[in-house]
Amino acid sequence: MTKERAVLAYSGGLDTSVMIKWLIEMKDVEVIAMVGDVGQKRQDLDYIRQKAIDIGAIDCLVVDMREEFVNDFLTKALAANALYENKYPLVSALSRPLLAKHLVQTAAEYNANFVVHGCTGKGNDQVRFEVGATTLNPDLKVLAPVRDWDLLTREQEMDWAAAHGVPVPTTAAEPYSIDDNVWGRTIECGILEDPWVEPPEDIYELTQSPDMGPDLPQYVVVGFQAGVPCSLDGEPMSFYDIIMRLNEIGGLHGYGRIDMLENRLVGLKSREIYETPGALALIEAHKALEDMTLERDLLHYKLSVEHTWAIQVYYGQWYSPLKQALDAFIASTQPAVTGEVRLKFHKGTCLTVGRRSDYSLYDYGLATYGEQDSFDRSASKGFIDIYGLSVKTWARQQRKLGL
Ligand code: ARG
Repeated sequence: MTKERAVLAYSGGLDTSVMIKWLIEMKDVEVIAMVGDVGQKRQDLDYIRQKAIDIGAIDCLVVDMREEFVNDFLTKALAANALYENKYPLVSALSRPLLAKHLVQTAAEYNANFVVHGCTGKGNDQVRFEVGATTLNPDLKVLAPVRDWDLLTREQEMDWAAAHGVPVPTTAAEPYSIDDNVWGRTIECGILEDPWVEPPEDIYELTQSPDMGPDLPQYVVVGFQAGVPCSLDGEPMSFYDIIMRLNEIGGLHGYGRIDMLENRLVGLKSREIYETPGALALIEAHKALEDMTLERDLLHYKLSVEHTWAIQVYYGQWYSPLKQALDAFIASTQPAVTGEVRLKFHKGTCLTVGRRSDYSLYDYGLATYGEQDSFDRSASKGFIDIYGLSVKTWARQQRKLGL
């Protein structure tokens, strides 16, 4: 009889390595491992691939998802100026639905009826993988071994691994839980679980401490075409390369650290540290260009759409009809978001200090208090009389009521 097959989102770490063996032994399935490259810190992908095969996977695919991540996910996130709870640029929340999509595709190619992830039972990522995968294919079954197995401590897991021929890491366990991709880096657990404790300096990799930043500020001009970053200091560059470069520049100036207590979907608050210099700088610049190119009421309305968009994506609803409809609205706002923004990095800050666009709605004549003033002030009086009429009438009534 042929065995059932499972496609596993594989990272090469201890959990998902043990998982390959565990699935084979405890679930009696054939395992196809899948590693997604979303711009995380360089790993030896050949080594990871071989490791999966050595443990017993029938195949291990290493998929370069960087272009797709930027084009289909980060472009939409930037257009939405996406910040969960006004702070977190959704680093992990953006990569999970992409990984889920590839799990589903690989499952179809290999005739597998299970997809598997290594998330714990109290985070957001489990929701994003599962809701993402089952929205794309409602017939798929999902396995989440970490939620089920009784290898509670790392020692138990290492013992199980050693007893079953799974290579055991020789280095000490990382005291933090870390996830990263081109949009940034997330750090949680360990000492950070005490919300009063200042994060130790050694948790940071992308950013140096703001007070260690250069004494002189650095200026960078970011170019946008229809909402998508397309150049740096006038030189055409891919969105991916622009993020990488701004990660470097922002990181050098100590910009892009976030220390927040956030509300997880499963109902608990958790303390999270992020380093996202490139993402935050691009959102800053993108907003500045929208301030110049979007009509007032559209801009105001878009703010509420952005808020809902970020919550949907954080909650694992990347493929939901609401999120898709919001994307369509947001996309319709972007054609005029073309132009350049000048950013100034210095000692932990990134400020917009200039913006220009061929589609600017900023009218010098209307704005200036100088000689070229073209604003018709005489129209203001009548406008204010009528605009304020309703509340003025109400105020008289309140007075009658003695309120
Ligand atoms: N709290 C963040 C989020 O929910 C980061 C999650 C990081 N994931 C991880 N497995 N370490 O998006």
